[in-house]
Amino acid sequence: MAIRGLLRVGEVAFRVMDMKLARQHYGERMGLIETLEDADGRVYYKTWDELDHHSVVIREADRPGIDHFAFKVYDDATLTDLEPKIEAFGLKVERIPAGVYPKSGRRLSFVLPTGHTMQLYAEMERVGNTMGYHNPGVLPDEGVIRGFRIERLDHILLGGPNIEENERLFTEVFEMSVSERIIDADSKVSMAIFFSGSNKPHDIAFQAQPDGNRFHHASFRLQSAADLVHAADLIGKYRIPVDVSSNRHGVTRGLTIYFFDPSGNRNEVFTEGYMHYPDSPTIVWDTNDLGHASWSQDNVVRPSFFTVLT
Ligand SMILES: [Fe+2]
Repeated sequence: MAIRGLLRVGEVAFRVMDMKLARQHYGERMGLIETLEDADGRVYYKTWDELDHHSVVIREADRPGIDHFAFKVYDDATLTDLEPKIEAFGLKVERIPAGVYPKSGRRLSFVLPTGHTMQLYAEMERVGNTMGYHNPGVLPDEGVIRGFRIERLDHILLGGPNIEENERLFTEVFEMSVSERIIDADSKVSMAIFFSGSNKPHDIAFQAQPDGNRFHHASFRLQSAADLVHAADLIGKYRIPVDVSSNRHGVTRGLTIYFFDPSGNRNEVFTEGYMHYPDSPTIVWDTNDLGHASWSQDNVVRPSFFTVLT
């Protein structure tokens, strides 16, 4: 079937500890486009080629991490269809009326077996990318593409216990496929599971962690390897803390850079990677080759990459 159901991660709500520094990071340096500051002081951003009102929300708090993430679904009927299926799976579903979250239609909210608050929505105000939809040309208005030249929010990686229960939910209820899996070479237990509901190598992934509701990273897509080098130059120029400099993942084959926002939330920019289809076999990596699975250009296992979460 063509892509229906859950379309993509459409919103990530970050907690940050200093709004001024966070706005400098996400707005001025990464180049996300600010679309709203609400009455509670939350700031909303979109990337240049996203058509909906926002994809990133930041809120000042005393600790980093995320409040929730939300998938956009194909239409309102999808929400109606999914609600009883999520409840039958065993999760309590809260209905959130339209407008409670700015610019958003009604939502379903539930807590995953890993402890994360996940929401689904079908409607968000469309603001476009300045190009329109009739003879749009190939570039937005001057100045819209800036900073890291981020095209769109792409995927998130979260940590928690019970990732196999999440696997059952994402495959049986949300009808995604497991594109890749990292297993312990001895016990065969899954250490990380990557889910795709699209042509992307993953839309969301979960990493086994003892503590629930942990955030590993949110990833933003760039158009080219040249843009990845440009982002790396800006990361260096602005002394943004780097977790892992330019490398290629074995998992997903993406060219990647990991860095931290001023509150310690991990961000990724990436480009390339392969096409996934629903008939693609699950790719399995085991911990005997964890270095190459993680960082295929130097094969070095970086323990902090698996243990530092917010
Ligand atoms: Fe990633």
